[in-house]
Amino acid sequence: MSSVLTIRGGVPLTGRVTVRGAKNLVPKAMVAALLGNEPSVLRNVPEIKDVEVVTSLLQLHGVTVEKDPISGDLTLDPTNAKTASHTAIDAHAGDSRIPILLCGPLIHAIGEAFIPDLGGCKIGDRPIDYHLNVLRQFGAVVEKRPGGIHISAPGGLKGAKISLPYPSVGATEQVLLSATRAEGITELSGAATEPEVVDLIAVLQKMGAIISVQTDRTIRIEGVPDLGGYNHRALSDRNESASWASAALVTRGDIFVEGATQRDMMTFLNTYRKVGGGMDIGDDGIRFYHKGGKLNPLVLETDVHPGFMTDWQQPLIVALTQSEGVSIVHETVYENRFGFTEALIRMGANIQVHRECLGSVPCRFGQRNFLHSAVISGPAQLTGTDIDVPDLRGGFSHLIAALAANGTSRVTGIDIINRGYERFTEKLAGLGADFDITSTE
Ligand code: EPU
Repeated sequence: MSSVLTIRGGVPLTGRVTVRGAKNLVPKAMVAALLGNEPSVLRNVPEIKDVEVVTSLLQLHGVTVEKDPISGDLTLDPTNAKTASHTAIDAHAGDSRIPILLCGPLIHAIGEAFIPDLGGCKIGDRPIDYHLNVLRQFGAVVEKRPGGIHISAPGGLKGAKISLPYPSVGATEQVLLSATRAEGITELSGAATEPEVVDLIAVLQKMGAIISVQTDRTIRIEGVPDLGGYNHRALSDRNESASWASAALVTRGDIFVEGATQRDMMTFLNTYRKVGGGMDIGDDGIRFYHKGGKLNPLVLETDVHPGFMTDWQQPLIVALTQSEGVSIVHETVYENRFGFTEALIRMGANIQVHRECLGSVPCRFGQRNFLHSAVISGPAQLTGTDIDVPDLRGGFSHLIAALAANGTSRVTGIDIINRGYERFTEKLAGLGADFDITSTE
């Protein structure tokens, strides 16, 4: 069964939404619990698909995962961790990218790991070469087996001096989760320093790890033989917050995002202000609103933290279709994150995508066949259409375009949006959106 949204556009979204723990931290903190020798408690946990997938994978490996029926807090007890059947693990093939992060913790807990073929959004090739190279540098043996990858470490994982070719979030987390209980010292250069990475370091420090982050993207980890549990409140999802902020601009609305945190969103907030968006920053959240006048065009490049996040780019582009003039967006993190613009063009947006680097610094994708720069001219009147959701952020962007458009849109594939936006249809209804959901076989 899949759901179809029929959206009647033109209604400004107004009201309040609550954003909980970050999709890009919570499942990883759950994986970290496997490194402990006692239970951990994770708070501020959203109800999203990756949490379900990781819960199931941990349970298959003997970890008890209990959810508090009122708060939703998770208690994760790894004390009876065990090997799981490959067939049971394989049932999760294609569900998520998180399973690759189970490698280090599983090797420490039970001596080996079997990882199903990965899923995640189709926003480029999304290889795992950095992850496998990192694991090999810790002394792991990686073998391709039918349906997945088997990883073992006959002599245990040993600290290593590692340098990443690009500050990959996932590969940095792979190093953190493998190194904290490895023998000796690990020095990682070229590390990602996204707030979600720093929050994972906070979780590991609570468990007893010794990790220092230097200003030059170097992380040093002194391995310890044992870790305890943690009690942690996950940082808030700044990508969901930024998505609702763009939704307010696109629909000429006014949304208070409870849980949005200024500290983790400073680069986004600067850009939002330059576009002409209104904001009131409070202690418990941020109010984002359309000020009623014209929106400004922008020249923007996505980058690793502290740059403008790639995950903020897609919803903001919908707002830029409404700006007065020409905007340029250079995507430097993923080679293929503009596929979603095809539906926006069908809705009436003026967007061209180019192979050239239209930015101040040539990126890894220049002089290659990747359409990774976009030129957007506005303002354009959007008209409703039929849309099949391509990926998480692209799908949310289509939704907000449909909510702003003249006429009716029929949106299929919306289950992908549940991967990162907790109860998004309830939130849309609360903001006054005019839509129906129907189920199809
Ligand atoms: N890369 C490789 N080889 C690897 C790993 C990454 O070439 O082994 C490349 C990727 O193809 C990409 C770049 O390195 O071009 C950066 O990828 P990164 O590893 O940083 O991304 P990730 O860890 O797979 C996380 C988030 C993404 C977010 C990126 C960048 C999770 C579960 N996902 O992905 O979130 O865009 O970091 O910040 O944490 C989303 O939320 O919609 C989303 C896609």
